[in-house]
Amino acid sequence: MTSPWDTASLEELESRIWSELGHSVADTRHPWSLPAVATSDGQGPDVRTLVLREVDRTWRRLVAYSDARATKIAQLRTDPRTAWHFYDTRSRVQVRARGVSLVEHQTDFSRRAWELVPEANRANYRTMGVPGAAIAGPAEGHIFAPGGAENFALIVTTISHLDWLWLAPAGHRRACFEWQAGHWQGCWTVP
Ligand SMILES: Cc1cc2nc3c(=O)[nH]c(=O)nc-3n(C[C@H](O)[C@H](O)[C@H](O)COP(=O)(O)O)c2cc1C
Repeated sequence: MTSPWDTASLEELESRIWSELGHSVADTRHPWSLPAVATSDGQGPDVRTLVLREVDRTWRRLVAYSDARATKIAQLRTDPRTAWHFYDTRSRVQVRARGVSLVEHQTDFSRRAWELVPEANRANYRTMGVPGAAIAGPAEGHIFAPGGAENFALIVTTISHLDWLWLAPAGHRRACFEWQAGHWQGCWTVP
C-alpha cells in the first residue's frame, strides 16, 4: 500500500502537512491532536501537552486554549517564540512547527471561541486558584468560581518553519519549509 506521505513534490508535501493537521483537529483519536508545545521561561525551555483546537492554513495558524493565568501565557507574553511537536505513531511521521504566538484574551476572537466551549470544559477555566499555585491538598484544586470566560485565552501561533520527518520503511525522509516573502520555501534535508 502506498503512503500518502510518499511524494517527490515539496509543494504537495507542505499541503499534505497542513491538511493532516486539519484532520487531527476533527479526529480526537489522531495522535497529532495532542501536540507538545514548547515555550521559554527566560531560564530555559518549557514544554507541555495541549489540545490542537484550530488549524488555519491560509494564515499559517495553530490554535490552542489556555487559562490566561497559566504560566505558559506569562512566558508567551515575554517571549512569543513557540515550537509545536507532533508525532503519529501509526504513520511514523513527525512534524515540528515553529513560529510566534499571540495571546488572544478578552478579544472578539476569544469571546467567540468561548461560546463554543462545552459547559463541561468550562470548569477548566473556573478554578479559584491560579493554575500552578501551591495548595494544601488536591481537593483545593477543585474550588470553583462562577464565570470562567474572563480566564479563557487562545494561543495563536503563526508558523514560519516546518520540519517534517518520515520514518519510512524504505528509508527515512526529511524536508524543511520556511516562510519567506509570502511563500513556503521547501527543501529536502538529510534525515
Ligand atoms: C492530554 C492533555 C491535554 C491537555 N490539554 C490542555 C489544553 O488544551 N490547554 C491547556 O492549557 N492545558 C492542557 N493540558 C495541561 C497542560 O499540559 C499543562 O499541564 C497545563 O496547561 C499547565 O501548563 P503551564 O504551567 O505551562 O501553563 C493538557 C494536558 C494533557 C495531559
